[in-house]
Amino acid sequence: PVLVVDFGAQYAQLIARRVREAGVYSEIVPHEATAADIAAKNPVGLILTGGPSSVYEEGAPRLDPEVFELGVPTLGICYGFQIMAQTLGGQVANTGLREYGATDATIIDDGGVILAGQPTEQNVWMSHGDQVARAPEGFTVHARTGATEVAAFSNDEKRLYGVQWHPEVKHSDYGQQVIENFLHKAAGLPADWNSGNVIAEQVERIREQVGDARVISALSGGVDSAVSTALVHKAIGDQLTAVFVDHGLLRKGEREQVEKDYVASTGVRLITVDAADTFLGHLAGVTDPEEKRKIIGREFIRAFEKVQRDLVEEAKAEGGAPIKFLVQGTLYPDVVESGGGTGTANIKSHHNVGGLPDDLDFDLIEPLRTLFKDEVRAIGRELGIPEAIVGRQPFPGPGLGIRIIGEVTRERLDILREADAIARFELSAAGLDQEIWQCPVVLLADVRSVGVQGDGRTYGHPIVLRPVSSEDAMTADWTRLPYDVLSKISNRITNEVSEVNRVVLDVTSKPPGTIEWE
Ligand code: XMP
Repeated sequence: PVLVVDFGAQYAQLIARRVREAGVYSEIVPHEATAADIAAKNPVGLILTGGPSSVYEEGAPRLDPEVFELGVPTLGICYGFQIMAQTLGGQVANTGLREYGATDATIIDDGGVILAGQPTEQNVWMSHGDQVARAPEGFTVHARTGATEVAAFSNDEKRLYGVQWHPEVKHSDYGQQVIENFLHKAAGLPADWNSGNVIAEQVERIREQVGDARVISALSGGVDSAVSTALVHKAIGDQLTAVFVDHGLLRKGEREQVEKDYVASTGVRLITVDAADTFLGHLAGVTDPEEKRKIIGREFIRAFEKVQRDLVEEAKAEGGAPIKFLVQGTLYPDVVESGGGTGTANIKSHHNVGGLPDDLDFDLIEPLRTLFKDEVRAIGRELGIPEAIVGRQPFPGPGLGIRIIGEVTRERLDILREADAIARFELSAAGLDQEIWQCPVVLLADVRSVGVQGDGRTYGHPIVLRPVSSEDAMTADWTRLPYDVLSKISNRITNEVSEVNRVVLDVTSKPPGTIEWE
């Protein structure tokens, strides 16, 4: 792989994705990795990311200097560029000149391998207070900006390259070309990594891992579990049983989508567990968000364990192969974040419907462990899963249970389900699905306000629309939806859903608000 060495900014995953978009497989490693750790992974290229510190500060993240002796083509970006300069005998300084955001850069001479063929004047995205004041010996400078004499350099003989700006963000005009030039020209790597060969590779690997054992999988209706289940099914067919727990907190039409469309397109053998009564029974009288989440998580595990016991008994009775494996739709960002996280505050106890207890006597199959969400979608499409499932926006495991502010009851669920279906329909009809990361629709069940409809006074509940734009749900901004679309949604909801007499718009970014209300 190409290894992306993470210096602690938020850019590592973005860089890893850009590399894959260029058709080259990439993985992220922490900057603490030694030259030996890195060599052990047989990298074909290294990219050093940006980071929040100053390289000359005490305690600033460093890189084992021997990494530069490995002979692996290396691209330094921003902080990574400065680390390269400093480690190899150049000079990094704070000149008091900062550059943030769109900046004019001038390419010097032919730009070297990584800037070859690009316009002499271009717009690049900068974010730095320090700069490389002097390039190390043996390096040629390829670009400058108003504040920075050394904004890009290379040492072709040692196959070391660097840019002060961020080529991975879309605001850098020729950013992706810098990454591609590094991969294809400097490192000589072909663009041969794509979803088709991921499927072939995974199918083979799963067959090998499973043998003739049986496998179960928890389907949530979301993208990740739908794709991982279909991938495993492609590998081992009816050795797999998928289990779908209907907890009564699903959106309108969701269960049918899984039971009909998904099954029809994939041929997966599916068991649905009807657990709405149990879930709603345990949720009765509960208003605290964390408590709701805990109850839903616990009941999900109980429901799943029960089916699993039944299936194990059934397998025994038939005298067939034992059930030994469980499929999980873990994605690469989960793997990276749980491996490298230092003291991240627990804002909400996230409950993944795939997130089953550790003490299960099963081995895990996680065929999406190395993939990003957009890659998972591409694979899902290739496997023939309907767009309505593959293109779905994220939906939290606890479902509508955390979108009713107040106690969760059947009646309130029905109200919210109708309002949510209208909002989803209208947003899709207006062609806004690509613009919106997700749009939670929230029922303020304990709030009432006075309204007037026809000739009568109403005393109903508000519905909140929470459309957000985001790259990864860690931060988000509220989406500026067209007024006419908002107006249509509002009219339809207040006309068609009795009990709702007001529709309000949430215009808070994250932070300070989270995406969900609970
Ligand atoms: P917040 O509300 O924390 O949400 O800004 C960030 C993203 O996570 C989703 N979310 C969940 N997903 N189980 C999940 O699988 C959960 O318990 C859960 N809670 C929030 C939320 O929809 C958003 O995409």
